[in-house]
Amino acid sequence: MTQATSSYTDDIAIRVRGLKKSFGSFHIHNGIDLDIPVGKVTYIMGGSGCGKSLLLKQIMGFISPDVGTIDIFGERMDATNFQKLKHIRRHLGILFQNGALFDSLSVYDNVAFSLKERLDLSKSETDARVESLLKSVGLAMVHATKAPSELSGGQRKRVALARAVAMKPKIMMYDEPTTGLDPVTTMMVTNLIRDISEEHKLTTIVISHDTHVVFSVAENIAFLKDGKVRYVGPPRGVFEVEDADVEEFFVLETRYKEEKK
Ligand SMILES: Nc1ncnc2c1ncn2[C@@H]1O[C@H](COP(=O)(O)OP(=O)(O)O)[C@@H](O)[C@H]1O
Ligand SMILES: [Mg+2]
Repeated sequence: MTQATSSYTDDIAIRVRGLKKSFGSFHIHNGIDLDIPVGKVTYIMGGSGCGKSLLLKQIMGFISPDVGTIDIFGERMDATNFQKLKHIRRHLGILFQNGALFDSLSVYDNVAFSLKERLDLSKSETDARVESLLKSVGLAMVHATKAPSELSGGQRKRVALARAVAMKPKIMMYDEPTTGLDPVTTMMVTNLIRDISEEHKLTTIVISHDTHVVFSVAENIAFLKDGKVRYVGPPRGVFEVEDADVEEFFVLETRYKEEKK
């Protein structure tokens, strides 16, 4: 055994080191260090504008950091090397905030979209993949011929999820998947994300403000503030750190916890 180094290990899916990003005089990221563990659900939390979406965009290679590195399964992200970027992006699936469906396409065609574009599957293979994807998000094939406008909000989210995992990414990222949803749909989508993570054995990253659902599904929480990771670890640990900002952000849960005593 060699002694522990900062090199790649099998249980880290994404390793972020010393990440800095500014826009003009706005320093958004001031040295982010973060490990995203393989096969777990990690929530990235923090106030509006703290740079959560920006972090995902850098992980995807849409935006380059000013300073610092991002490694995905041990491979260095380099937004200037398109071939390499394409290679690494095979592992990554993302559902953007308000990730909309193609309105003019049926549910089937929405889910089959990237399968048809990127894989050379027969019609029956595509049918089978779409059916199993819809099933894994709790939708029967009777919905396949419908237009998105004929579905409920919750059903549309399910279709968007099926489409996002269609290419079998190893890492699935969700940017604010429940923002603006009612509490029942929020819980449904949150549970669905957990179930899909388990079923497809994914490494999952969820960006969210919903501190009231995070404790039921997150296995790991990273809290961002002032361009740094101020807490990272298991959900319960947020109540144990002595950091006024962490305490403030999770204050409602602290109250909830105390009421239950
Ligand atoms: N491409 C960009 N150009 C200029 N400013 C940006 C860009 N992307 C993000 N920002 C700024 O960076 C900050 C963090 O944005 P964002 O990551 O979207 O925050 P959030 O944590 O709410 O997702 C915001 O102040 C935003 O205006
Ligand atoms: Mg955002």
